[in-house]
Amino acid sequence: MAADSTTPMLSEAIRDKIRAFIPRYPSKRAVTLPALHIVHEYFRCVPYQAMTEIAELLEITPAEVHDTMSFYGFFPQAPIGDVRVWICRSLSCMITGGDEMLEHACKKLGVRSGQTTPDGKLTVEFAECLGICDFAPAALADDGRIFGPLTPEKVDAMIEVLKKGPVDPSHGMNSQIGSQEPASSEV
Ligand code: FES
Repeated sequence: MAADSTTPMLSEAIRDKIRAFIPRYPSKRAVTLPALHIVHEYFRCVPYQAMTEIAELLEITPAEVHDTMSFYGFFPQAPIGDVRVWICRSLSCMITGGDEMLEHACKKLGVRSGQTTPDGKLTVEFAECLGICDFAPAALADDGRIFGPLTPEKVDAMIEVLKKGPVDPSHGMNSQIGSQEPASSEV
């Protein structure tokens, strides 16, 4: 969504959602993370202008919002693909080939980790433990689909499936990350 410095990026509805968290936290600063999730759910990224508007709302500096954003590494600043998929590189996945699976996926898609395919369909990233080690080497899409144990062939199949789009177009992702009870493995 385009915005300029005179047009607020965050609508009143988004601001109200953020404000609703304030009484539930010990300080406005502590609302930074929920605010980032709210903005991310709406735009699927947190552009610089949104960052400054969150800062203004919470009476902190944009740099403080940015610090929280970079600490979690979860909030992209630019729009991402229709589906975002993380391939795990933590211990259980690393020793079963997680790095190789990420490399294979990137090669197949012609992107580097963190990038989006030119058709805007898929963003592929590495992740630390996704909480689905039983599926190692594992991947998780931001609509909640779990993939694994991966092989190069299964990565190819995963890509084909994911390029068809999210299972729920209105997908939000927060509750899916690190789920201890994956519903099923797709591949
Ligand atoms: S180490 Fe990869 S999901 Fe836990």
